[in-house]
This record gives sequence, structure tokens and C-alpha cells, in this order.
Amino acid sequence: MKVRKFAENKIILGDVISVLDDCVEDGSIDLIFVDPPYNIGKKFNGKQQKWNSDDEYIKWCYQWLDLCMRKLKNTGSIYIMAATQYMPYIDIYLRDKVTILSRIVWYYDSSGVQAKKYFGSLYEPILFGVKDQNNYTFNAEEIKIEAQTGAVRKLIDYRKQNPTVYNSKKVPGNVWYIPRVRYKMAEYRNHPTQKPEALLERIIKASSNPGDLIIDLFAGTFTTSVVAQRLGRKSISIEVEAEYIKLGLERLNFVSEDKSNKTILNNQDVQLSLDLNMGN
Ligand SMILES: C[S@@+](CC[C@H](N)C(=O)[O-])C[C@H]1O[C@@H](n2cnc3c(N)ncnc32)[C@H](O)[C@@H]1O
Repeated sequence: MKVRKFAENKIILGDVISVLDDCVEDGSIDLIFVDPPYNIGKKFNGKQQKWNSDDEYIKWCYQWLDLCMRKLKNTGSIYIMAATQYMPYIDIYLRDKVTILSRIVWYYDSSGVQAKKYFGSLYEPILFGVKDQNNYTFNAEEIKIEAQTGAVRKLIDYRKQNPTVYNSKKVPGNVWYIPRVRYKMAEYRNHPTQKPEALLERIIKASSNPGDLIIDLFAGTFTTSVVAQRLGRKSISIEVEAEYIKLGLERLNFVSEDKSNKTILNNQDVQLSLDLNMGN
């Protein structure tokens, strides 16, 4: 089996705090994406992640947020996901550190069992901030979508000096409908909180340029790095579970198939691949 060296997209196995501190240069990152454990008792690789108190969880979040501020370029952007009940803490904590430009709602259709005694949660909040509101990347043209109103009905915009039909394309607002990743979708991997490639595609296209460096603090199934690689961005992905590192190696084509067309992965290979990449 060959293990390919892919310097542009690094995978780092380890704890987010020590990896950020030790392996990532200060002021080097153009775009940070953070999708942490939500502290709602999900199991990652069979291990339940739940902090003893809200206070402990929030303090841990502040630790990586502070490191993010150090690692982000002055022209950089940050997107953070969190459970609805914890997002207010993060929002308030970040207000004097970045300019918060959007509070995005990612919503999806229901699946599985629905709540019967309260209103079930069908959205996740995403905070979008920039270090310098006068100097940041936002590629509006890259992310335009078909407008749902005016243009479809061929309405005329009479507010303009020379009335014309409404634009048929527009920058999406802050409420995004993107279906969740489901079993049997091509991008599906065995992970409890995989994010859709379409979600990351919008974020990466809007807030980075080809060649920029993106970091994902909690890689999971490596959605961010897969999309970054496809769009010609460099990436660093941190993940504490070796089992999920294997997903990253496979999705980023770090491994190729052996003669029997089977992809063989074991911890030794993971280590080999990591060593190769850490050296760059
Ligand atoms: C919400 S999931 C990320 C999902 C990812 N965005 C995706 O699309 O697949 C959080 C991930 O963080 C990892 N994780 C938890 N604690 C960590 C830590 N201290 N350092 C690095 N990764 C950690 C978990 O193993 C899990 O895969």
C-alpha cells in the first residue's frame, strides 16, 4: 500500500489545545472553522463527551477561542458552530475580539423520531466573525443563489432610477436550508455529527481564496479539508480520535488501494502519514 504525502492538506492527530499551541503558527490562518463537541452527550468513537458542568464546558471553549484569535491572520475570518444553548456565551465572549458579521441559522428537515412534548430542534447556529471589518475576504459572486422572489415572477424594481427586473441571483441571507448528511449519500461516513459538504462549500468559497490556509479544529469526518482540497485551498485538520483520522486519510486520498482493491488502514499507517505531513 502506498501512503501519499499531501503537504497542502495536513491531518494532525491530537488534542485541539496542545496542537493549536504547538503546531500552528501564530497569525497564519485565513479561515477558521470550528464544529466542537456540543456537550449534549453525543458519543464520538464510542466515548461520550459531556463536561461536568456548563461552566467547565464554556471555559474549555474559551481556551480554544483564545488560541483561534492568536492563530487567525488580521484579514482572517472565523465560523463557529455550537449547540443553541451555548452559542450566546460564545457570541458575547467574541464580541470584543472580532466583528461578528452574521448569525447564521442552518436548518434542515426532520429525520428519525420527532419531539412530541416540545418543539424539536431543527436548526444549528453558526457565528461568522472577522478580525478586521474593513479588510476581509468575502467572495459574493462565488456563492450567489437563485433568488426566490422578484426575479422568478419577473417583477420590476421601481425603486431604481431606471426600473429593471429584479436580479435573479443574490447572496444568500443568514438562514440556510441544507439537508443533513444521510446514510447512503455518497459523502456519508460513520460519524454521529458529520456536516454536509454543501455547508462547508458555501463558507469556504465565501471566506477564502485559492491557496489560502484553512484550519478545522475538530475534523470529525474531515468535511472541511475535503472541500478545501477540492477548491484548491490548503488545510490543517485536528482530530483526537485515531479512528476518525482514518476517515480523513481515506477521504483526502492519502491512501490508495492495494492489489486486491482493498484500502488497508492501520494505526501504523496513520502514524506514517502523520509523520510525513508534520515534517512539512
Ligand atoms: C462535532 S464533531 C465534528 C464533525 C465535523 N465537522 C464533520 O463534518 O464531520 C467534533 C469532533 O471533535 C473531536 N474532538 C473531541 N474532542 C476533541 C479534542 N479535545 N481535540 C480534538 N478533537 C476533538 C471528536 O472526536 C469529533 O470527531
